[in-house]
Amino acid sequence: STQRTYTIDVIAGDGIGQEVIPPAIRCVDALGARHGYSVVWRERDWGSDYYFTHRRMMPVDGIEQLADGDAILLGAVGHPDLPDHETLWGLLIPIRREFLQYINLRPVRILPGVVSPLRKVTDLDIVVVRENVEGEYSSVGGRVYRGRSEEFAIQEAVFTRTGIERVARFAADLAATRRGRLTSATKSNGIIHSMPLWDEVAADVVRDGAGLTVDSVLIDALAAKVVLDPGAFDVIVASNLFGDILSDLVAAVAGSIGIAPSANINPERRYPSMFEPVHGSAPDIAGRGIANPVGQLWSASLMLGHLGESAAADALMAAVEQTMASGVLTADLGGRADTSEFATQVLRRID
Ligand code: NAI
Ligand code: MG
Repeated sequence: STQRTYTIDVIAGDGIGQEVIPPAIRCVDALGARHGYSVVWRERDWGSDYYFTHRRMMPVDGIEQLADGDAILLGAVGHPDLPDHETLWGLLIPIRREFLQYINLRPVRILPGVVSPLRKVTDLDIVVVRENVEGEYSSVGGRVYRGRSEEFAIQEAVFTRTGIERVARFAADLAATRRGRLTSATKSNGIIHSMPLWDEVAADVVRDGAGLTVDSVLIDALAAKVVLDPGAFDVIVASNLFGDILSDLVAAVAGSIGIAPSANINPERRYPSMFEPVHGSAPDIAGRGIANPVGQLWSASLMLGHLGESAAADALMAAVEQTMASGVLTADLGGRADTSEFATQVLRRID
């Protein structure tokens, strides 16, 4: 077979991003040697350190620099000395939007060796499909009368028929390949313009999804149900804000935010997609070499799957799961392994 080559931009970013990215690169390279591909890594020193020098999170033409790559692997951004909206809107959100990564896929499972903080929960296999480019995270609005008692802020949510349709269709197609259960997160009792549109369009899209069970559930009740009976859910489709909150909740129920991965996908493949753990830069543990690399490794596995390297993607998750099943766990899961020990064990199982 011919050798496949991928160009992948890697943005380790801030805090523990710098610690969990190197293991991911080593694993992807090691798998390439066995599965017939190689990777040209384009390392980008973007993020908060870049900001302290250049007053921006990435170069002016950062998006153009990434455009011809096959994928983007990101660690995390966020620094205690910078406002979070600056770091987020300076790097992550422009990449998601400019590359029309309108699907944010967040699979959650209870991996071997992990005990849910809810002792009763043993069976959990959920994918949250979060709308990723519109909705509540919008730059439309403003702040007036700063610092005065008259001060106010207006923040507009943007919901489009096209935007809802495409995320609902993606989620329905995904559910059809899994257990056939789709849940739509809504709040059409309180939010009376955008959420009824969400409900109508979602219902239209899934109407012809033969064999699918479809439920529309109010987000507050859904949050409670996901805690009380997570085994009842398969694929959950949600707006940008609801999906963000729900996926952290589900990840926490599954044991640790340190294991949760995410994929920002442009399904049409006109632009590179971006793969990143759900967690942030974790300044409280950064620099100590103890971060759990599983969220980053699982994100790398999603990236390999997206590139069509599904055998390598599966082999990576198998190596991670075998490592965890053998009792090698990082501190967030009650274990004693540090980041590099854990990575070494995963690499040994790949080789
Ligand atoms: P965080 O996810 O960085 O940390 C939350 C808690 O989980 C901390 O106690 C941390 O030590 C722990 N934790 C997270 N990942 C871990 C891992 N891999 N192994 C072990 N423990 C882990 O969220 P936080 O503290 O709210 O935010 C910190 C910074 O990260 C902020 O600046 C925030 O804006 C940014 N952030 C960036 C994200 C991104 O780049 N996509 C996502 C979330 C937050
Ligand atoms: Mg989040």
